[in-house]
This record gives sequence, structure tokens and C-alpha cells, in this order.
Amino acid sequence: MTTKKLLVLLGTLILAAVLMTACAGEPGAAGPAGPAGPAGPQGPAGEPGTSASAADLTCTECHNDTSLITGKKAAWEASLHGSGAAFIEEGPRNSCAGCHSGAAFSKMIADGQNFSQVESGDADPTHQDCRTCHQVHTTYTGADWALETDAPVTFVVSGLTFDGGSGNLCANCHQARRYMANFVSKTDATLYSATARFNTHLSVQGDILMGSGGFGVEGKPGAHYSMVENTCVGCHMGEGDNHLFEPQMATCVACHADAESYDVGGAQTEVIARMAELETALKAAGLLDENGTPVAQDLDEKKATALWNYEVVLEDASMGIHNPTYINAMLDAAFEALK
Ligand code: HEC
Ligand code: HEC
Ligand code: HEC
Ligand code: HEC
Ligand code: HEC
Ligand code: HEC
Repeated sequence: MTTKKLLVLLGTLILAAVLMTACAGEPGAAGPAGPAGPAGPQGPAGEPGTSASAADLTCTECHNDTSLITGKKAAWEASLHGSGAAFIEEGPRNSCAGCHSGAAFSKMIADGQNFSQVESGDADPTHQDCRTCHQVHTTYTGADWALETDAPVTFVVSGLTFDGGSGNLCANCHQARRYMANFVSKTDATLYSATARFNTHLSVQGDILMGSGGFGVEGKPGAHYSMVENTCVGCHMGEGDNHLFEPQMATCVACHADAESYDVGGAQTEVIARMAELETALKAAGLLDENGTPVAQDLDEKKATALWNYEVVLEDASMGIHNPTYINAMLDAAFEALK
């Protein structure tokens, strides 16, 4: 090819290029992304604890796919702690909150108080729930199943110290609120002013185990206080952590080998019969009304003793079990006082 021809061809190509550019269409689709650039510098360190992998989560010691929580919860919901409604009315009242609102109980224990020192009621009361008895969500590890307290309890009314292992937890609430001495007449110190609530409150179990709470009778701690490991918990929860809080026969048979029911040696049957007899006598004496409620009136010491001991045995509700010797001695004193 000659130089001239080459130049013509070159000129034609340039012209063509200019023309093609002038009438170019829409630009084509973007090509594929180029290769990644080099890694950038490391960023600043994050706040500690803002991220975790499942392996780090101590939560799974409790929140996992076992029945660890749900199994206990099912039993608890069927117990009075989980189903009772008293907390709704009593939780907001300062003189009741420490025992009737689970959350108020936790605060009371944290503040080193007893139920009589709680100054304000709980506006959002709770049942006696998992958080009441366990340290749930404190360290966020399985160690939080530890009990809120198992320290010995100095009883508010008697001043006695209840020291029964993990049963101490229970004794904070299951203790008397008042004794017969709290009913001495304001006008005549030899008399007792009975009211419809001439009783210790339904929470007297801890006192009874220790042989205290009745009137006109010497008491002492029974075998069920001094010998049963963890007292209340040993019998009412047993070794299987029974969250129905029902006495466990497996615990009883460790000591009462032949026992087939709580009524060992017919002791409960006997107390129930004696209570029925006493009730009839108290009604006849005008101390109980026909519904079995104490009649409001001033009583001399003997009448007061008969009525009081009846009420204490009733409120303890174990029908002899918590301290068989002491409970029968209280009934003896009641019958004696009515003579
Ligand atoms: C000691 C065992 C335990 C550990 C550890 C634990 N929890 Fe819980 N958690 C509970 C219990 C008990 C409840 C109450 C269960 C119920 O009422 O159903 C609960 C309730 C909850 C609830 C429901 C809302 C509430 O507060 O009741 C959430 C959410 C929760 N936990 C998250 C966590 C997280 C997140 C962790 C870890 C950082 C954790 N938990 C660690 C025992 C535990
Ligand atoms: C925070 C206070 C508190 C603690 C702690 C507590 N209880 Fe209770 N308990 C109550 C209250 C209040 C009721 C009644 C609830 C209601 O009626 O709403 C009750 C009810 C019961 C009942 C049912 C009684 C019935 O009439 O059927 C048993 C049994 C019982 N508690 C045993 C225990 C044992 C055992 C423990 C210790 C493991 C314990 N309680 C710890 C306050 C407490
Ligand atoms: C020392 C703890 C304690 C205090 C304080 C206390 N209670 Fe109770 N109360 C209990 C316990 C424990 C029971 C449940 C006993 C049982 O069922 O055998 C109970 C039971 C009751 C019940 C019966 C509940 C039911 O389901 O049948 C009523 C009502 C009640 N209390 C009202 C009150 C009121 C009102 C106050 C305050 C003026 C109060 N309590 C203060 C511990 C307490
Ligand atoms: C009235 C008190 C009370 C309440 C309410 C309660 N517990 Fe318990 N729980 C106990 C006692 C006492 C034990 C026995 C263990 C001990 O002595 O440390 C126990 C044991 C356990 C154990 C075994 C702990 C271990 O270390 O092996 C688990 C799990 C448990 N409870 C879960 C729950 C859950 C979940 C709830 C709520 C649904 C709940 N508990 C409510 C008192 C209570
Ligand atoms: C020797 C085992 C034993 C010990 C220890 C024990 N209890 Fe009981 N408790 C029983 C038996 C058995 C009953 C009767 C249950 C029945 O007849 O249905 C009972 C009854 C009760 C009741 C009445 C239940 C109802 O259905 O009305 C309460 C509340 C109670 N106990 C709480 C406690 C508390 C709180 C403690 C510790 C201060 C405690 N108990 C210690 C075995 C025991
Ligand atoms: C650690 C051993 C021990 C355990 C556990 C125990 N008891 Fe007892 N119990 C005794 C002793 C010792 C006596 C006799 C002394 C006394 O009356 O205080 C007794 C007395 C009794 C009596 C009176 C018997 C009579 O003939 O007068 C009854 C009823 C009773 N127990 C029921 C129970 C029940 C129900 C349980 C289980 C919920 C239980 N006990 C668990 C040791 C135990």
C-alpha cells in the first residue's frame, strides 16, 4: 500500500469515527465490577459487651430448650404462691407488702428489713414468684438460682431466732404477726380485747415449729424443727425441688419408715377431732359465733387462752404436724381453761 493510500484510509477512519460519535446511541449497560480494593485500616474498638456469640451467653444456662424453667413454672402456677390473689389487695399496703408482694419482699431483704419495717406498699405488686425466692438476673448466670436469703430470721413478735437452713427463706414470711399480748385491753390490763381477727395471722408456721405462739403453755422446738434438714423446704419441697410446695412423703419415710400418709400414728386425726370438740365448746361459751368467727368482746385470761389457742392451731393449718407435742399441749391448755 502506498503512503497516499494509507493516509486516505486513515482519514476515512477518522471521519468515520467522528461521524459515529456524532450519532452514538444510549450508553450500554455497566460492565462487571472491578476487583475489590485493598482492605482499609482497622476501625476504633467498640464498647465492651455490645456483641456476643451464642457461646458467650450465660443466659442459656437457664433459657434453653429444657424444662428447667417451664417445669418449675408449671408446678408453681398451681401452688398458692402462683395462683393466690391476696397480693392484689395486700401488696399495695405497707403493713402487708413485705410478705404479700414478691417484689416488695426482694426489696425488703436487700434493705436488711423485716416485714414490720417496710414503709411503703408496692404499686405494682407481684405473686411470690421466681424472682421472690431466687436471685434471678443478678449475675445472669446459673448461679442466680441461689436463694434471695437463707440467713437466720429474728422473729418480729417473739424475738426468737429461726435457724433452719434454706427453710429460713420461708420463715421470713411464714411467721406470726401478733401474739395474744398484742390484744391486752387498753382500759383494763387484766383483760384481752378479742376482735374477729383474734389470731396470729395465717402465717404462724415458723413460730409453731419452734414451740411458740400459744398462750398458757411452755413450748420448745420439736423434732420437725431440729431434725428435718432445711425444715420447711425439706418437707414441702423435698429433694426434687417440688414447686407445688406440698409436703413430700419421700421425706417423711426417711424417719417414719411405715408412713403411708401425713397422718402418722393417727396424730392428725386426733388433732382434728380435738379441734372439733373445742370449737363446739367455744361456741357454747359465746366465744365463737355460729360461723366460727371470734366474737368481739373483752375476755378474762382463761377465756382468752381457750379461744387464742384454738385460733393458733387453726391458722397453722398443719393439724398437728408442725410440732405434735406443742400443738397438743396448746389444746390441753385450752380445754383446761374452759373448765
Ligand atoms: C438463673 C437463671 C437465669 C439466667 C442466667 C437468665 N435468666 Fe432470664 N429469666 C429467668 C427466669 C426464672 C425468668 C422468669 C421466667 C418466667 O417467669 O417465665 C426470666 C425471664 C427472662 C425474660 C422475660 C422477661 C422478664 O424479665 O421476665 C427475658 C427477656 C430474659 N429472662 C432474658 C435473659 C437474658 C438476656 C439473660 C442473659 C443475659 C438471662 N435472661 C439470664 C432466669 C434466668
Ligand atoms: C414473700 C413471702 C413468702 C415466702 C418467702 C414464702 N411464702 Fe409461702 N406463702 C406466702 C403467702 C402470702 C401465701 C398465700 C398466698 C395467697 O393466698 O395469695 C403463701 C402460701 C403458702 C402455702 C400454701 C398454703 C395453703 O393454704 O395452701 C404453702 C404450703 C407455703 N406458702 C409454703 C412456703 C414454703 C415452704 C416457703 C419456702 C420455700 C414459702 N412458703 C415461702 C408468702 C411467702
Ligand atoms: C409476716 C408475713 C405477712 C404479713 C406481714 C401479712 N401477711 Fe397475710 N399472709 C401471710 C401468709 C404466709 C399467708 C398464707 C398462709 C397460708 O395460706 O397458710 C397469708 C394469708 C393472708 C390472707 C388469706 C389469703 C388467701 O388466699 O386465703 C389474707 C386475706 C391476708 N393474708 C391478708 C393480710 C393483710 C391485710 C395484711 C396486712 C394488714 C397481711 N396479710 C400481712 C403472711 C403475711
Ligand atoms: C417460695 C420460694 C420459691 C419460689 C416462688 C420459686 N422457687 Fe425455685 N426453689 C426454691 C427453693 C427453696 C429451692 C431449693 C434449692 C435451694 O435450696 O437452693 C428451689 C430450687 C429451684 C431450682 C433448682 C436450682 C438448682 O440450683 O438446682 C430451679 C431451677 C428453680 N427453683 C426454679 C424456679 C422457677 C423457674 C421459679 C418460678 C416459676 C421458682 N423456682 C420459684 C424456692 C422457690
Ligand atoms: C415435718 C415436715 C414439715 C415441716 C418441717 C414443715 N411442714 Fe408445713 N406441713 C407439713 C404437713 C404434713 C402439713 C399438712 C398438710 C396437709 O394436711 O394437707 C403442713 C401444712 C402446712 C401449711 C398449711 C397448708 C394448707 O394446705 O393449708 C403451711 C402453710 C405450711 N405447712 C408451711 C410450712 C412452713 C412455712 C414451714 C417452715 C416454717 C413448714 N411448713 C414446715 C409438713 C411440714
Ligand atoms: C428427720 C426425721 C423426721 C422427718 C423427716 C419427719 N419426721 Fe415426723 N417425727 C419425727 C420425730 C423424731 C417425731 C417424734 C418427736 C416429736 O413428736 O416431736 C415425729 C413425730 C411425728 C408425728 C407425731 C406422731 C405421733 O405418734 O404422735 C407425725 C404425725 C409426724 N411426725 C409426721 C411427719 C410427716 C407427715 C413428715 C413428712 C412430711 C415427717 N413427720 C417427717 C421425725 C421426723
